[in-house]
Amino acid sequence: MQGCSAGNATPIWRNAAPSDLDAIEAIASVVHVSLHERRAVLTEKLRLFPAGCLVLCRTGAVLGYALSHPWTFGTVPPLDHFLGALPRLATCLFIHDVAILPAAQGHGAGRSLIPRIDMAARRHKLNALALVSVYDTQSFWTDQGFAVLEDATLHAKLATYGASARYMVKPLRVEPSSSEPLGP
Ligand SMILES: CC(C)(COP(=O)(O)OP(=O)(O)OC[C@H]1O[C@@H](n2cnc3c(N)ncnc32)[C@H](O)[C@@H]1OP(=O)(O)O)[C@@H](O)C(=O)NCCC(=O)NCCS
Repeated sequence: MQGCSAGNATPIWRNAAPSDLDAIEAIASVVHVSLHERRAVLTEKLRLFPAGCLVLCRTGAVLGYALSHPWTFGTVPPLDHFLGALPRLATCLFIHDVAILPAAQGHGAGRSLIPRIDMAARRHKLNALALVSVYDTQSFWTDQGFAVLEDATLHAKLATYGASARYMVKPLRVEPSSSEPLGP
């Protein structure tokens, strides 16, 4: 397994590797009891955009993960579906999933994730972050600079994410020279 260095007492985010997929799947099964996604669907995101996939590690254990990928602003990918490919003209970095084990929640890891995600978006010249807030986490995301974007055309798709689902976005300022090509 890629290093979750033995000594770090404070959890740190690092890039995810294929060898983390067992841990990612195990965490998803604990955190997303009502929003299950197949392992192959999670695996596809790591294959398509490893730069947007992170794991939270402490003393050799994976305690959480975040999966994000370039996407089209104002649209929501359906849950538990394959993306197939990244859009050729992506207009945002979509945070598909953040899941931290209950014992590791509430210690700042979620907050510390956001600068890493911001950086991944900027590096790929994506000037917005987007996500679907679930489990009534709207205030968490608002504190991280996101705002709800009301769009009636999204209602049906959002409903598949649960009653509290909201589409939220955060604009970013992108430096002109900071781009990297999309894809693995
Ligand atoms: C939501 C989640 C990512 C937040 O990460 P975390 O490490 O627990 O959060 P932090 O410790 O960084 O908390 C940052 C702030 O957000 C608040 N917060 C944490 N979880 C929250 C939640 N579920 N709803 C609202 N606010 C929340 C904290 O109280 C803290 O506020 P403060 O700055 O006033 O003290 C994490 O709890 C988690 O994985 N939850 C289960 C799955 C989930 O809800 N994923 C997100 C779906 S969109």
